[in-house]
Amino acid sequence: MEGVVQHNDHEEEKKTKKACVIGGTGFVASQLVKLLLGNGYSVNTTVRDLGNEKISHLVALQDLGDLKIFKANLTQEGSFDTAIEGCDVVFLVATPVNFSSEDPENDMIQPAVQGVLNVLTACTKAESVKRVVMTSSAAAVSIMNHTGEDRVMSEEDWTDVQFLYSKKPPLWGYPVSKTLAEKTAWKFAKEKNIDLITVIPSLIAGASITPDVPSSIGLATCLLTGNETLINGMKGMQLVSGSISITHVEDVCRAHIFLAEKESASGRYICSAVNTSVVDLSYFLSNRYPQYNVPTDFGEFPAKAKLILSSEKLVNEGFAFKYGIEEIYDLTLEYLKSKDVLEG
Ligand SMILES: NC(=O)c1ccc[n+]([C@@H]2O[C@H](COP(=O)([O-])OP(=O)(O)OC[C@H]3O[C@@H](n4cnc5c(N)ncnc54)[C@H](OP(=O)(O)O)[C@@H]3O)[C@@H](O)[C@H]2O)c1
Repeated sequence: MEGVVQHNDHEEEKKTKKACVIGGTGFVASQLVKLLLGNGYSVNTTVRDLGNEKISHLVALQDLGDLKIFKANLTQEGSFDTAIEGCDVVFLVATPVNFSSEDPENDMIQPAVQGVLNVLTACTKAESVKRVVMTSSAAAVSIMNHTGEDRVMSEEDWTDVQFLYSKKPPLWGYPVSKTLAEKTAWKFAKEKNIDLITVIPSLIAGASITPDVPSSIGLATCLLTGNETLINGMKGMQLVSGSISITHVEDVCRAHIFLAEKESASGRYICSAVNTSVVDLSYFLSNRYPQYNVPTDFGEFPAKAKLILSSEKLVNEGFAFKYGIEEIYDLTLEYLKSKDVLEG
């Protein structure tokens, strides 16, 4: 066979695949774009504002491979048609995030649902799209009135939207928007025969290539930075969702690509590496990073997580997490130091 170039069919197929990433400016989406380019994909990505200096990190990624940047908005009908046309797989990562909103219904919930319909409609128009991978959230699974026994949450579980609308705990609009957006996606996909997968990550940490430090990294590291507002936010998170569950951004992005490529995959997939509680996390951080003044006394606050978010389905599909709690925090701290958010 001298002189004949042997091709590995699988690699060849991977190299010629074209993906569209919706919302490329974001923390997760920009890392996903980077990983896809590294895996040989051609990538189209959408941003809200092409002139915005927020896209500088995406422009820099164009050195890594074939990356085209398109303008599109979740709330505009037909906005995604051009970016999605000709793509094999679409990653719907963007979501309206407006935690300080006084009108979550109009600022987060309606645009999230509308965005799903706009993107999925564009996917039905483009005959090339074989699979859509949507980023949902643990916020669409585990938020409910946690009164009973400790439990293991699986893909069968859905956040209780009525509980959120009636109790309106802080930041209630976000979990409502994620739950209704995912339910809308499943209904539409069934009606239009779309091959849809949803990835359900827990709180995401790690390093980011975005110009600003993502809010989820701020939340994940609040016990180290001592940000009282965020510490209260983390306590609130444990009370409504039952645990503090954390995953490294690279594992989240690897899971997206793994599920896009795994033919046998179907349905929802929880993607969560670590299950802990505010108190357990505080002891872990205090022991591992004694140079920071990590609080460990939380009085009467429930010390233990009430539930475990199980990634068993994802692992049984063949996915292996790369990062456990030690690596997640070592790498996140390294990143925060590089951004001058933390000293030491
Ligand atoms: N980070 C976490 O801890 C976490 C955990 C679980 C699930 N998730 C999910 O993962 C996904 C990505 O999260 P992230 O942390 O990367 O969020 P992020 O950094 O805040 O990014 C959100 C993205 O959505 C875009 N977007 C917002 N409204 C839009 C609109 N109307 N039209 C088009 N794009 C719009 C933003 O664009 P602009 O740059 O123009 O604002 C941004 O690119 C989301 O679906 C989120 O729910 C995140």
